Amino acid sequence: MMLKTMFSLLLLFFSAIAMGADYIQGEQLHMKSCTGCHDSALYTRDNRRVQSLPKLQSQVRFCKDNLGITWFDDEVDSVTLYLNNEFYKF
Ligand code: HEC
Repeated sequence: MMLKTMFSLLLLFFSAIAMGADYIQGEQLHMKSCTGCHDSALYTRDNRRVQSLPKLQSQVRFCKDNLGITWFDDEVDSVTLYLNNEFYKF
């Protein structure tokens, strides 16, 4: 019983770390490559173009491809996660 509780707490702890890492990775990638042209006001303006999570992901891909950056899929996911948590909130 006790062991089971400790185990689930541990599991929770590690999944929180995994989620946090993605978020922080996304924040860092974004800071490094994505703040040159637009600041974050673009993401929260009234007439923003991106209206759904899949659209956000393809927009991240689109901007990244335009810049010629090579990111792995999980890095695209991290930036999408970061932008969604911080600004879009779909
Ligand atoms: C070379 C300049 C440039 C860079 C660097 C750039 N973008 Fe963009 N981005 C644009 C332009 C231009 C738009 C379209 C703005 C508009 O619609 O008025 C845009 C729009 C966006 C939007 C949609 C905003 C909305 O209206 O909802 C997102 C999201 C976005 N960019 C993400 C990124 C990400 C992530 C990166 C880093 C990989 C990045 N951008 C780097 C030029 C750039």
